[in-house]
Amino acid sequence: MRNIDEHTITPAVISRQAESGNPRFKEIMDSLVTHLHDFARDVNLTEAEWMQGIQFLTATGQKCDAKRQEFILLSDTLGLSMLVVAMNHAKPRGATEATVFGPFHVDDTPAAEQGADLAQGAPGAPLFVEARVQGLDGRPIAAADVDVWQADDDGLYDVQRPELGDTRRARGVLRTDADGKVRFRTVAPTAYPVPTDGPVGDMLLASGRHPWRPAHIHFMIKARGYQTLVTHIFRDADPYLDSDVVFGVRSSLIGDYVKHAPGTAPDGSVAQRPFYTLALVFVLSTAS
Ligand code: BEZ
Ligand code: FE
Repeated sequence: MRNIDEHTITPAVISRQAESGNPRFKEIMDSLVTHLHDFARDVNLTEAEWMQGIQFLTATGQKCDAKRQEFILLSDTLGLSMLVVAMNHAKPRGATEATVFGPFHVDDTPAAEQGADLAQGAPGAPLFVEARVQGLDGRPIAAADVDVWQADDDGLYDVQRPELGDTRRARGVLRTDADGKVRFRTVAPTAYPVPTDGPVGDMLLASGRHPWRPAHIHFMIKARGYQTLVTHIFRDADPYLDSDVVFGVRSSLIGDYVKHAPGTAPDGSVAQRPFYTLALVFVLSTAS
């Protein structure tokens, strides 16, 4: 194979991959090469631009460490994460919709008791959440694990505060009771920008895009015999609901955060400041 030009290069690469013993790998690589080449031809990519792209991807890798995943952030902000979620988590009618996982989940989040204060000192207005987990048939799902995580009123997750070390707050894993319910106290979430001090931030700026996510609480719900649900509950009336930087908003996932004047809260305590309540129903689809 010689004298390859800008058109014959694509079949040349694909035929070189023909002996791959893994049909799925070959399908993915053939398509990737085809689309990459088409992209370069489409925009008439110059050598200087290609080198800029290589430098951008290199910087993206160099920004990654145990606490920072710039490649996931790149996938999120390019809409690729949400595309993959949408393709892989099409839910039956009535089931709660899924959205992006995001980079701030902590695997060893401690278990929390019913009624626990997950905030553990995180700043923000008190929020009392009651959530019911049920199947498509409306029956409660007992003993489901409800993993909750969120940013505080400063728009920061605990893992973004070096002063906290390994202390965990504004997160916890609760188990549903016989009625399929969990109750907990936390703080009302606020909108926050994704990290912009890396190459993804530069890309957003150059694209004329803002870096904000509308306020939300993350949930991951696992129950035996059901598909694991990864989702958020967004705060109603957030100014970024229609321009989420990672394209994760679904109308069905906007919660009704009800504001109350100071007084007796759902847990019997007396709140000295306004507080919020949020009632949720999560509907899981059965495992296929
Ligand atoms: C998040 O919601 O935690 C998140 C999702 C995608 C990118 C950055 C943050
Ligand atoms: Fe988040």
